[in-house]
Amino acid sequence: MKAAMGDEARAWLLAVVALILAAAAVAVAVAEESTSTPMPGCQDRCGNVSIPYPFGTTLGCYFNDDFYISCDSTHYDPPRVFLRRSNIQVINITVQGKLRIMQFIARDCYNRSGAPVSRNNPFLRLSEFRISDTDNMFVAIGCDTEATIQGIQGSNGYTSGCISKCDSIDYVDNHTCSGIGCCQTSIAKGVRYFNIAVRSYNNHSAVWDFNPCSYAFVIEEKMFNFSSNYLRDLQNVTMMPMVLDWFIGNETCEKVKANGMHDACQGDSTCYDVDNGSGYRCKCLDGYEGNPYLPNGCQDIDECKDPNLNKCEGMCRNTKGNYTCFCPKGYHGDGITDGTGCVAIQSRSLVIELTVGLGVGITALIAGSTWSYWAFKRWKLIKLKHKFFRQNGGLMLQQELSRRDTSTETAKIFSADELDKATNNYDESRIIGRGGYGTVYKGTLPDGRIVAIKKSQIVDESQIDQFINEVVVLSQINHRNVVKLLGCCLETEVPLLVYEFINNGTLFQHIHNKSKASSLRFETRLRIAAETAGEKALSFQRSEEERNLVMYFLSALKQDRLSKIVDDGVVKEAKIEQVKEVAKLAKRCLRVKGEERPTMKEVAMELEGLRITGKHHPWVNNDEPKLEEMEYLLGEPSLKLGSDGAMSNAAYDSMKDLVVLQAGNGR
Ligand SMILES: *[C@@H]1O[C@H](CO)[C@@H](O)[C@H](O)[C@H]1NC(C)=O
Ligand SMILES: *[C@@H]1O[C@H](CO)[C@@H](O)[C@H](O)[C@H]1NC(C)=O
Ligand SMILES: *[C@@H]1O[C@H](CO)[C@@H](O)[C@H](O)[C@H]1NC(C)=O
Ligand SMILES: *[C@@H]1O[C@H](CO)[C@@H](O)[C@H](O)[C@H]1NC(C)=O
Ligand SMILES: *[C@@H]1O[C@H](CO)[C@@H](O)[C@H](O)[C@H]1NC(C)=O
Ligand SMILES: *[C@@H]1O[C@H](CO)[C@@H](O)[C@H](O)[C@H]1NC(C)=O
Ligand SMILES: *[C@@H]1O[C@H](CO)[C@@H](O)[C@H](O)[C@H]1NC(C)=O
Ligand SMILES: *[C@@H]1O[C@H](CO)[C@@H](O)[C@H](O)[C@H]1NC(C)=O
Ligand SMILES: *[C@@H]1O[C@H](CO)[C@@H](O)[C@H](O)[C@H]1NC(C)=O
Ligand SMILES: *[C@@H]1O[C@H](CO)[C@@H](O)[C@H](O)[C@H]1NC(C)=O
Ligand SMILES: *[C@@H]1O[C@H](CO)[C@@H](O)[C@H](O)[C@H]1NC(C)=O
Ligand SMILES: *[C@@H]1O[C@H](CO)[C@@H](O)[C@H](O)[C@H]1NC(C)=O
Repeated sequence: MKAAMGDEARAWLLAVVALILAAAAVAVAVAEESTSTPMPGCQDRCGNVSIPYPFGTTLGCYFNDDFYISCDSTHYDPPRVFLRRSNIQVINITVQGKLRIMQFIARDCYNRSGAPVSRNNPFLRLSEFRISDTDNMFVAIGCDTEATIQGIQGSNGYTSGCISKCDSIDYVDNHTCSGIGCCQTSIAKGVRYFNIAVRSYNNHSAVWDFNPCSYAFVIEEKMFNFSSNYLRDLQNVTMMPMVLDWFIGNETCEKVKANGMHDACQGDSTCYDVDNGSGYRCKCLDGYEGNPYLPNGCQDIDECKDPNLNKCEGMCRNTKGNYTCFCPKGYHGDGITDGTGCVAIQSRSLVIELTVGLGVGITALIAGSTWSYWAFKRWKLIKLKHKFFRQNGGLMLQQELSRRDTSTETAKIFSADELDKATNNYDESRIIGRGGYGTVYKGTLPDGRIVAIKKSQIVDESQIDQFINEVVVLSQINHRNVVKLLGCCLETEVPLLVYEFINNGTLFQHIHNKSKASSLRFETRLRIAAETAGEKALSFQRSEEERNLVMYFLSALKQDRLSKIVDDGVVKEAKIEQVKEVAKLAKRCLRVKGEERPTMKEVAMELEGLRITGKHHPWVNNDEPKLEEMEYLLGEPSLKLGSDGAMSNAAYDSMKDLVVLQAGNGR
């Protein structure tokens, strides 16, 4: 299939090329016809002989006297052309430097008796130009013949010739001037003058039947094809064509220039020496043709029109003085016949295109499906996030927040992505606390704020209202012992709470650090307890350790061994009554039944009371406004917490955060 396609294309191409060549051939033929290149306004032909410049028939039409041509139309019809004022008949002039003339032949004829009938020994004398040694040869015909040519080379003469004797025509080679019946010799170089003589040895008496005459002539070699018939039939032929070399002047190109003269060579042509420098000619540059002796005589050859002039296998583009080959579309190569030619690339490009197409397709498919899968996963994730958001009361929170005054700081709803980034995907190294309440991570928000992020416990759907309410309220609290709740993220299964991060060590570290503990005065402890009471239910979360601790505390209280379990510093500093009161309050808080435990408000009031009675001037205390602040915090009806000791899971959970995070430290 592919091969067929290629062949078809090639056949089509050949047809087109053939068509173009046919057109070119016509064009060339037309051009040749009009390639008569005389001087403008001069006679361009005489009879059927064209006369190119530098030759001319009238004054001003020829280069100099050497190139004068006489056209005799008065004595001859059709008119004849003669060189200068001589009787040398010219039959063809080429601009390349050849002049074809007709020259008499030498003959020597006898009658049957052996008496001479006619004899002619012609000569040729040229004032200019020379007999072409390359185009001509000296030929003698006869079977009883001796022929000589005497030439003058420069100032030296020379003689040459040949002999032909044969008794029978049977020995004569037809079509070959082999020496029998016909002999030939070459012409010497640079001959301007010669005479020819021919004679018989035995007056042809022995061969008269088939060869009555001897002949000799100088002839253009390619015009001569010997035939045995010539032995008899050449009697009526008087002239043979021969070729002269013509050229300009008698000096070299260089000498002409050295003499300060311009040579006769015009545009796009060049000068060259003839015959070792006695005269010069002009020729068009390669790729040009025409008459180099005429202005604009040399014209660019359109090599593309002639398949013999270009080596293009494919397409051809003509350039000035040359041409370039190229291949048609769908082919590659240099387009040159003896180069790489033109090879169809259609099938190969098809393969490449197919391969590329397939590759692109597959890549696109993979990319597309990968993207689709990724998009689907993302879509699922987003849906899941929405689901969690709804489940965790996100809509409710949004509503709640929009209802509130925008000027006051409220909880921010963080996206899961934001917190992922803030905690470096909840990296282990970011954990700053772990316990029953969950895990706390340290994170950095895009605005540079450092936060503590707590993975809350799963929210019971029934308590979502309380949870959201709490988030809203806590986010508005600005208490020095309470870490500020910045917001939450509800897009995860487990809600995430985002707190302000305070790097002051944990409460645990403060209390249990021996050196610090001693410095932590009872007064301070009581204050901390009082101040956080409203925000904290002192329920101990019922773990084994905690249970034992509770039992230990209760038994110690029963056995009045309180001083044993209280820090030495506290015992020394505080009034034992105060410690006992606090212990009693703690005992009440440890009751299993929620209804029996004091409310947060009651705990706060009692602690504050204890603290104040322990001071000398209770009612002028600076801490008084704090009570009011506490009242406010606890009294807020929407807070819905601390109304009884048993707080909701969610509320408790988030409250516990406060303590952990109040003293919240990374490590
Ligand atoms: C030119 O004319 C002569 C005489 O009419 C004729 O013999 C000869 O063949 C012609 N040459 C060409 C090339 O036509
Ligand atoms: C002259 O000679 C050239 C080259 O041999 C030839 O192409 C041309 O046809 C000749 N012209 C005439 C008129 O004989
Ligand atoms: C040959 O020529 C001579 C002298 O002209 C003459 O006497 C003789 O009769 C001729 N022979 C023939 C056969 O014509
Ligand atoms: C021709 O030549 C032959 C042989 O050389 C001779 O016998 C004869 O007399 C000659 N004829 C004439 C007319 O001279
Ligand atoms: C030579 O060839 C010519 C034709 O070209 C023919 O007429 C002639 O008889 C041939 N001569 C011989 C000896 O065969
Ligand atoms: C001479 O002419 C004969 C017949 O016309 C031909 O067969 C032969 O090839 C020619 N020879 C040359 C050298 O042109
Ligand atoms: C030569 O010319 C003469 C007269 O013009 C004629 O009678 C004779 O047959 C011709 N010979 C040949 C071989 O053509
Ligand atoms: C060259 O030609 C000129 C005239 O055209 C002539 O005077 C001079 O003698 C020639 N020189 C030679 C070496 O033929
Ligand atoms: C060419 O000319 C030079 C000097 O002009 C001369 O020595 C040499 O022999 C010449 N050659 C020929 C082949 O005429
Ligand atoms: C003409 O072009 C052909 C092919 O492009 C190149 O081989 C050749 O050398 C060129 N000839 C000249 C004279 O630039
Ligand atoms: C944390 O500690 C610093 C210095 O110890 C103290 O200035 C600051 O008030 C403390 N912050 C809190 C919230 O206790
Ligand atoms: C106890 O506190 C001191 C002083 O702040 C501190 O250098 C030390 O590391 C703390 N020890 C513990 C176990 O936290």
